Amino acid sequence: KNIVVMASGSGSNFQAIIDAIQSGRIKQANIAGLVAGKAGIRAAERAQSAGIPVKTMDPSLPHKKSENQLEEYLESWEPDLIILAGFMKKIPDKIVRKYHNRIINIHPSLLPKYGGKGFYGSRVHSAVLEAGDPESGCTVHFVNEQYDRGDIISQVRVPVKPDDTAETLSKRVLEKEHQLLPEVINQLLNPNSN
Ligand code: GRF
Repeated sequence: KNIVVMASGSGSNFQAIIDAIQSGRIKQANIAGLVAGKAGIRAAERAQSAGIPVKTMDPSLPHKKSENQLEEYLESWEPDLIILAGFMKKIPDKIVRKYHNRIINIHPSLLPKYGGKGFYGSRVHSAVLEAGDPESGCTVHFVNEQYDRGDIISQVRVPVKPDDTAETLSKRVLEKEHQLLPEVINQLLNPNSN
């Protein structure tokens, strides 16, 4: 099955997917391509090293044209599953509808907590620390028209420690992301096996 990954940053989750396909933890999957949210990101270098084609969003395009560009990128790869792995833009409604329940996102909190606009990157973890939550974690969910609000597929929890900073907490969560995301992808692609 064809998967397309979309990323805007370092791409460590993207790398976890590449590695999981190579090691057989994700079965029946071919990464058809990477949509890079912007130019010059580490995720695109990772794709190149792995021989995966990259298409980059053009920031100079007006809104509608940018939507069309994304739609064409995706169409060209005929994805069975689209994975947002640190993709920092909202997915246009028409694309959400076209790929209904075939787009998933990973988010570094226990959604519905600390989701939605404004909760990205280290802000999520700072908010968890400020609130004094005893635990945090990560969530994989289907993408719908609302930011971080689609149906939850799976979550993993981690403890928050007394001396945590946003950085130490984000590291602990990210390690779990790297396990959870490949697991969910394999499950979605191969629903009848375990
Ligand atoms: C992850 O924390 C992910 O949950 C969030 O963005 C970060 C991406 O990290 N949506 P990376 O680019 O996969 O290293």
